[in-house]
Amino acid sequence: MPLKNELSAEERQQLVAAARAARGNAYAPYSKYPVGAAIRTIGGRVYSGANVENASSPVGLCAERVALFTAAAAGEREFRAIAVVTRDGASPCGACRQALAEFGMELEVIMADEEAWICQVTTLEKLLPSAFGGKEEEKPHR
Ligand code: THU
Repeated sequence: MPLKNELSAEERQQLVAAARAARGNAYAPYSKYPVGAAIRTIGGRVYSGANVENASSPVGLCAERVALFTAAAAGEREFRAIAVVTRDGASPCGACRQALAEFGMELEVIMADEEAWICQVTTLEKLLPSAFGGKEEEKPHR
């Protein structure tokens, strides 16, 4: 069964290309594990990010959150898909899943390797089932 509202193969590959380009700007001198991400809004705009590490390790931030927060800080609130590019097509960490969950669970999540080969396409709902969404009366976007 195709995902609801899923991107076309070409749109997916474009989003992966943006994530791959962003990965080139990753600052990952400690882990040597550069990550790039690109998030696409409902309206088709794309915001990208890369992981930025720090000598004090918890201070660094994952690529997905850099992309998401850049978009949110530009005023975006509705997202359609995110692509993540790593050397091995890894899956977003739990903290990034929770950050993304703030803006909706139907998000398409595309994982690709450094050759832009798509390893997996799924949804945030599947990656973070039964997510914590806060109290019903305090949900701002849903
Ligand atoms: N990293 C991400 O950017 N995204 C993830 O979902 C998992 C991990 C980064 C954090 C750190 O800079 C490096 O990858 C190694 O963990």
